[in-house]
Amino acid sequence: MSHLIRFERTGGPEVLQWVEADVSPPAAGEAQVRHHAVGLNYIDTYHRSGLYPLPLPSGLGQEAAGVVEAVGEGVTGLQPGDRVAYAGGPLGAYAELRNIAALHLVKLPDSLSFEQGAAMMLQGLTAQYLLRRTYRVQPGDTILIHAAAGGVGLIVCQWAKALGATVIGTVSSDEKAELARRHGCDHAIVSTREKVSERVRALTGGVGVNVVYDSIGKDTFLDSLACLRPLGMMVSFGNASGPVDAFDLGLLARMGSLFLTRPTLFTYTARREDLLAMAEELFGVVASGQVRITINQRYPLQDAATAHRELEARRTTGSTVLIP
Ligand SMILES: NC(=O)c1ccc[n+]([C@@H]2O[C@H](COP(=O)([O-])OP(=O)(O)OC[C@H]3O[C@@H](n4cnc5c(N)ncnc54)[C@H](OP(=O)(O)O)[C@@H]3O)[C@@H](O)[C@H]2O)c1
Repeated sequence: MSHLIRFERTGGPEVLQWVEADVSPPAAGEAQVRHHAVGLNYIDTYHRSGLYPLPLPSGLGQEAAGVVEAVGEGVTGLQPGDRVAYAGGPLGAYAELRNIAALHLVKLPDSLSFEQGAAMMLQGLTAQYLLRRTYRVQPGDTILIHAAAGGVGLIVCQWAKALGATVIGTVSSDEKAELARRHGCDHAIVSTREKVSERVRALTGGVGVNVVYDSIGKDTFLDSLACLRPLGMMVSFGNASGPVDAFDLGLLARMGSLFLTRPTLFTYTARREDLLAMAEELFGVVASGQVRITINQRYPLQDAATAHRELEARRTTGSTVLIP
């Protein structure tokens, strides 16, 4: 018998249940993975709350690292004992043991711990596509990243800095501002007491930034547009404050022929060759020391509800792992 987190109805963290489950042998194309660490991501709260609807009952979580215990028919290139990590596939990473299609798995380099693997796959691959594909950051660019002291935020700050950008970040407290600065953020704006677009204009001599990476959504969308220079790129990639309201498309023209995209990681990693190339680049910037994976919270997997409460109350910084 092993254990996993399941929920039968959507709602607050209290809907998460720790239950026993039998795990069948892996089917064709699957691997059975013993999780050593599970990643906590903001998207898990959207699934739990019902913002992103799902058939119920459901498992939760899309990121973990562990060891392959068995492989199903037709699986090549993986064997029992291999260290692996993943971000994606069907929900169910909040589990001690699970089966998952082998095509989602990436071999974890020996230099990375299971905790690092679980903390960096989803947030790090997101930073990879945001900075390298959605808007390809160039030396000399100025970027704005919201929630700069969060999981995605700390990785984006460091990576963008290494790419030669000037990094402006938003945070909700002085402590988080200090943390963001220690991770490459040149200017940390405390959004609870400063109007972000005004400060961005001041910092850029009135010009605005090349790109805004906005994961806050509802509360920040319009002000983020006001931070951009003409032909700038608005990347709306999350809804921590709720989904963005409908708006007049003509605004994009009036504010300087702006570009707007609403991307999700799983489009960028849908092709196996893209997943592998993105992971290779991510592992490379971590191995070189350009990006550190900062794990500031650890909870027993069984206490996932506590982790969700802390994340939603904005009390976490950097990445968080759940330990089976
Ligand atoms: N589209 C994609 O492919 C993709 C992939 C991964 C993550 N994301 C998104 O990226 C964002 C960051 O994810 P993460 O896992 O790294 O989380 P996180 O940034 O560690 O945590 C969320 C942060 O958002 C900020 N925030 C602002 N308004 C908030 C509000 N009303 N409620 C709660 N938090 C608020 C808080 O930072 P402050 O207190 O400093 O404001 C909080 O710490 C999430 O929105 C997530 O959905 C999107």
